[in-house]
Amino acid sequence: MKVEMPHRYKVDAQESYTLPSDYYTSEEAHRMDKEKVFYKNWIYAGHIEKVDVPGKYFTFQIFDQNIMVVKGKDNVIRGFYNVCPHRGHELLEGEGKKTVITCPYHAWTFRLDGQFNRGRAVDQIKNFNHDESCLTPVRIEVFLNFIFVNLDPEAKSLQEMMPGLEEEIRSNIPQLDGLTLSHRIKYDIKANWKNVIDNYLECHHCQVAHPQFIELIDMKSYKVNTHDYYISQTSNSKGKLVCNANAEANDEEIETYLSYWLWPTLAIDIMPGEAGLIVMYIEPNGPESSIEYLEFYYLTKEPSEEGLENIKYQDEVLTPEDITLVESVQRGLRSKGYVDGRYVVDNERTSISEHGVHHFHGLVLKALERI
Ligand code: FES
Ligand SMILES: [Fe+2]
Repeated sequence: MKVEMPHRYKVDAQESYTLPSDYYTSEEAHRMDKEKVFYKNWIYAGHIEKVDVPGKYFTFQIFDQNIMVVKGKDNVIRGFYNVCPHRGHELLEGEGKKTVITCPYHAWTFRLDGQFNRGRAVDQIKNFNHDESCLTPVRIEVFLNFIFVNLDPEAKSLQEMMPGLEEEIRSNIPQLDGLTLSHRIKYDIKANWKNVIDNYLECHHCQVAHPQFIELIDMKSYKVNTHDYYISQTSNSKGKLVCNANAEANDEEIETYLSYWLWPTLAIDIMPGEAGLIVMYIEPNGPESSIEYLEFYYLTKEPSEEGLENIKYQDEVLTPEDITLVESVQRGLRSKGYVDGRYVVDNERTSISEHGVHHFHGLVLKALERI
């Protein structure tokens, strides 16, 4: 039975109301997000360096679905549900390297390409079919050196959903193939995942809430561009990052601020200054809580002084500023005094325009089959 969750969303942002508060607070919305968004879309799993040689693997969760990503002897990266086809024990934990996958329960073994290898006495059972006892695959796509997983066998490929995006990002950061994970931070946030994404998709609040950020960015040139399944936010920079603002630039350095959000939960930021990427991804952790990860990719494992400066700024200033905002909004969404609101949009799509948030809400409602 379809639960009534009425909304006043309109395709025209000028006439539309935002997603109603129960989409951010209810168990029902959380269940719908799981089934219709997270089980059907491309979810970020990690950088290809995590499986750089045959046998390397890592596991991760999409809600209650435990997934393994493993590189085969043929150098192909594959994904499987992390479950044994015998009686359902989980096969791998964490990350590591194996030549063969052995189930911890009754020691069936599987090849790195998911094929059944051995199980004691299985040949004594009638009609035992090795092919029926392989690991169940999930779809994997490598995009910008990042691994994405999709549990929907029918889903369009990422390249098809986001045409031209990989080329655009690569043209802005030619050093992309040399980047490595330098630092990772985890935040528990008392807010629904969509609330965190909403906040990421507009800079209307930057003037009010991020005094240091607006010193770095030329807000007059700030533009928010929506595409079918991604949104870019771009701006000229006023200088280099934070304390290094007066340091001399070299030719390799990036002179603009670029941010890309990829439906549903991944964001990539390119800050002015030395080559690097910040990946932000959000994992729902209940109807009203989520986990945010920030990953800093630089040309060296050990961040440079400028990299450290950037990490410190993101960790101590920018992210806490945003977390305070979204947690307050989450409490507000539970208020009996609030249901939905209006989008502030302007035709020039400037820094204060919230059409990116409107676009995201349209994607949510389409995924949930509500429009
Ligand atoms: S559950 Fe894996 S071998 Fe039995
Ligand atoms: Fe912000």
